[in-house]
Amino acid sequence: MAGAGLQDVIASDSKICLLDGVKGRLVYRGYDVADLVEHCGFEEVAHLLWTGALPKAAELAELKRKLAAHRPLSGAMHHLLGDLPASAPPMSLLRTCVSAMGLTDPRAESSDPAVNLEMAQEMTAQIASIVASIHRLRRGHGPVQPEPGLSHAANFLYMLSGRRPDERAARIFDGCLILHAEHEFNASTFAARVIAATLSDIYSAITGAIGALRGPLHGGANQKVMLMLQEIGQPSRAADHVRRLLAAKQKVMGFGHRVYKTEDPRATFLRRWSQELGEKLGQPQWFEISQAVERVMLEEKKIHCNVDFYSASVYHLLGIPTDLFTPVFAASRAAGWTAHVLEQYADNRLIRPLAHYVGPVDLKVQSAK
Ligand code: COA
Repeated sequence: MAGAGLQDVIASDSKICLLDGVKGRLVYRGYDVADLVEHCGFEEVAHLLWTGALPKAAELAELKRKLAAHRPLSGAMHHLLGDLPASAPPMSLLRTCVSAMGLTDPRAESSDPAVNLEMAQEMTAQIASIVASIHRLRRGHGPVQPEPGLSHAANFLYMLSGRRPDERAARIFDGCLILHAEHEFNASTFAARVIAATLSDIYSAITGAIGALRGPLHGGANQKVMLMLQEIGQPSRAADHVRRLLAAKQKVMGFGHRVYKTEDPRATFLRRWSQELGEKLGQPQWFEISQAVERVMLEEKKIHCNVDFYSASVYHLLGIPTDLFTPVFAASRAAGWTAHVLEQYADNRLIRPLAHYVGPVDLKVQSAK
């Protein structure tokens, strides 16, 4: 019988992502993620995930053109956003909006791989615009129209704040999008594949993935990390705070991983950017508190931080509101989710495991009549 939570179970072959939890290595389609972060932009990585190859110059230009064309939201989407309760959690709003996108798309039932790739690209562009617009609307600000000349990363920050980010901030955010774009059979990606494997449509698969990402044991952890850093308030209080949580048998958010037994390679970049941005913006406290928390977790539990830990302070320093951290994660992971849906459709078999039944048998009905 499989261990609880399907731990260590290999569910299927995949050519998209290699995750070596012992060596702390993450590889997208053959390329180490560190190499991709150093040398590529999010658009190139998305192309790589979808098609299996890095784009040639003309392909990259074409993809950028398409993403830019897909970024403006339709009138129907603006109306929907206006009608939904602005106080609802942004992840729930995003889930509803992505589901709604599928209502009017006549291509949704298509089984043509080229059409599904088009929808994957469109959803990746639109999800970022939806997240930015959710924030603008609830603040009573009008939505900001996308700026076609900007990268996916820079444009998102622009649509969120109405200000063009400086080059370094945009590059760091671009790196964040790459680091969050894909991660093998994590819970939300697996959820997307289970849905796609029934030959349901790509909108249903991504709606389900958003629902799975929302939970605090998965993508919801990054928001909780920022709330914890704010509650701790200063580095000298970090050790006591963490020890109290551990003594109460509570999880410290942003630590631990089902697969990594060593440092999460994504955390290495995020730690560096948290320090850099903190120093640059005169807010070193978030990095310092994070370091203090990390030290205690290693001393007391030998548990490493995961992607959600330092991404919290990085996103905060980039001006992203805390309750948008998980939707921003979804905006990056849209590329990986949709790549997995395409791969599932290309060689599909229904995903249908067995349960190990541990309930009673042979009960006889005693009629109450
Ligand atoms: N804080 C404190 N203890 C933790 C911990 C954390 N963040 N993560 C794991 N542990 C401990 C557990 O208490 C358990 O200890 P025990 O064996 O003494 O009971 C052990 O490590 C195994 O944890 P478990 O929850 O069974 O591992 P898992 O593989 O099922 O869960 C996570 C993996 C990611 C869900 C888990 O580490 C977690 O809840 N982390 C916090 C949430 C988070 O950051 N999620 C984002 C993941 S990218």
